[in-house]
Amino acid sequence: MNNFDYDVLIVGSGAAGLTLALTLPESLKVAVLSKAELTEASTYYAQGGVAAVLDETDTTDSHIQDTLIAGAGLCHQDAVAFTVENGAKSIQWLVDQGVRFTLDESEHLHLTREGGHSHRRIIHAADATGYAISTTLVSRVKECPHVELLENRVAIDVITTHKLGQEGANRVVGAYVLNKETGKVELFRAKFIALACGGASKAYLYTSNPDIATGDGIAMAWRAGCRVGNLEFNQFHPTCLYHPEARSFLITEAMRGEGAYLRLPDGERFMPRFDERAELAPRDIVARAIDYEMKRLGIRCVYLDITHQPADFVISHFPTLYERLKEFGIDITTDLIPVVPAAHYTCGGVKVDLHGQTDVQNLYAIGETSFTGLHGANRMASNSLLECFVFAMSAAKNMQAQLAMTPDLPECPAWDESQVRDPDEDVVILHNWDELRRFLWDYVGIVRTNKRLQRALRRVELLQAEIQEYYSNYKVSSNLVEMRNLVLVGELIIRSALARKESRGLHYTLDYPEMSTELVDTILVPPEFIVEQPKIL
Ligand code: FAD
Ligand code: SIN
Repeated sequence: MNNFDYDVLIVGSGAAGLTLALTLPESLKVAVLSKAELTEASTYYAQGGVAAVLDETDTTDSHIQDTLIAGAGLCHQDAVAFTVENGAKSIQWLVDQGVRFTLDESEHLHLTREGGHSHRRIIHAADATGYAISTTLVSRVKECPHVELLENRVAIDVITTHKLGQEGANRVVGAYVLNKETGKVELFRAKFIALACGGASKAYLYTSNPDIATGDGIAMAWRAGCRVGNLEFNQFHPTCLYHPEARSFLITEAMRGEGAYLRLPDGERFMPRFDERAELAPRDIVARAIDYEMKRLGIRCVYLDITHQPADFVISHFPTLYERLKEFGIDITTDLIPVVPAAHYTCGGVKVDLHGQTDVQNLYAIGETSFTGLHGANRMASNSLLECFVFAMSAAKNMQAQLAMTPDLPECPAWDESQVRDPDEDVVILHNWDELRRFLWDYVGIVRTNKRLQRALRRVELLQAEIQEYYSNYKVSSNLVEMRNLVLVGELIIRSALARKESRGLHYTLDYPEMSTELVDTILVPPEFIVEQPKIL
C-alpha cells in the first residue's frame, strides 16, 4: 500500500482538470489522475471549437440570449452570465498557454458558426480543436514542478468525514484509487478533490464519446452525498458517421455551420420542414427530426452534403475529416456522408455553485461531470469547453480562499481486500455492460414514453443488484469500477426522466408532448442524505 498526500487531487485530465492544475499556485502540491493516457478524454476529440464573444458585431448579451433559448427555459441566468462574461478571458488564457487556433486573413482568430448561435463566435483549430487544446495543456502541465501526473489510475470512491464516522459537516479527505499497472488500490489523501471525470454518454449503445465517459465523477459524488441535477437531459449529436468500421466518429456541427445540408436517401433536404433555422436549429430539434425520418422511412441513416461548396474550401476548413473519411472510402468534396445521431453530452451532473463546489465540503465537480445550470434543457454547441475553462479557474480561486480554513487531514483506513476473492467470471460485467447500453438506447433515447422508462427502470434495478453483489465479493478491476458507476448513473438518468412530466429540450416523451408552464430542475438527493421528502418518485 502506498500513501499519497496532496493539497489538491484532480480526478481527470481533460479540459477541466488540466485547466484547474494550471491555474493553481505553485505553492500547492497537486496530483492529476487519468484513467488511461492523459489525452484519452472527450476534450481530445472535440472538433468544432469554443464559443466566446470576440467579433465586434457580437455581444455578450446575444451569446447569453442564444444559450437561454437553446436551454429551453431551464438555464440558470447567473451561470450563463458568469460563463459568457468570462469567455474572451478564457480564450486569451488558452492563446497564452500556446494553443494555436485558426486565424483569418487579417491574422485575427477565425470564427465559425454552429447551431443555435446567432453570430459567428466559435474559436477553433481547424476541425481538431480538442487535439490542439489537449496536447498544448498536457505539455504545459508537464512543465509544472508542483503537479504530479498519474496515468492509468482509476479513482474508485472519495473518502469523506461522514464515511469515517465523524460528526459535523461532511468534508472530503481522500480517495481510493486503483493503479491499473500494479492492480493495487492506493490511498490518496487530499485537502481538496476536484471531480473532472467527463460525462456518462457511454451509458448509450451509440455514442461519440471515448470509453472513459462512464459517469465516474457523478457516481462517486452521489455516493459521497452530493445532489445531482437534470440527468434526463442527454444530448444526442445529430451527425455521427454511420459506417460499419467507424467507432464513435463525430462529424462536426461546424460543417453545417459552413453550409452543409442534411438529405434523405432520395436527395430531399428535409430540415426546412422541421424548423425555419433548418440545419442550424439547436441539436435536440435536428436529432429528433433525423430520428423521426429514420423511423418513418425505415432507413438506417441520413446524409450530410457539403459537395456544393468548393473543394478547396471544404478541405481547408475540414482537413482532419477529409483525411479520416477518405480512409472509409468517402471523399467529402464529392460524396454524401452517411450519418446518424449518437449520445454526445451529459447536460446534467453533480450540482455545484459558481465555484464548482458540491454539497460536500472541499469536493468540487467541474466540466461535464458538473451541473452548473449553464446548459438548461439543451446545451448549445461549443459552450461545454468554455464551461470547463471558466469553472476550473473559478474552482482554483475558491480552493485558495478555503485553504486556511481547512483542517489537517485525518487518518484514513487502507483499502480492505481481506473479504474479497479474485473474480471468476468477468463475462458478467461485459454482458451487463452491453445490456445496459442497449436498453438505455432503446428505452431512454431520443423519444421516450412512461412504459419504456418503467421497463428500463426494472432492468437497471436488476443490474444494480448483480453488480453490487459482484463488487462486494470480488477484487476490483477497472471494468468493474466503470460498470458499477455506469449502472448507477443509468438508474439516475431513468429516475430523472420519469420525474419530468413534460417534453422540454432534450427530454421528449410521447406521454407528455407539451412543455409545462412550470420551470423546475430535476434534483435527486442520495437516499441516506434526505432530510425532507424529495420530489422524485
Ligand atoms: P473529459 O475531457 O472527458 O476528461 C475526463 C477525464 O477524466 C479523462 O482524463 C478520464 O481519464 C478521467 N477520468 C474519468 N473517470 C475517472 C476515474 N474514475 N479515475 C481517474 N480518472 C478518471 N464541446 C465543445 O465545447 N466544443 C466542441 O467542439 C466539442 N466537440 C466534441 C466532440 C466530441 C467527439 C466529443 C465526445 C465531445 C465534444 N464536445 C465539445 C464536448 C466536450 O469535448 C466535453 O464536454 C469536454 O471536453 C469535457 O471535458 P472534461 O474535462 O469535463 O472531461
Ligand atoms: C461539434 O463539433 O459538432 C461538437 C460541438 C459540441 O459538441 O459543442
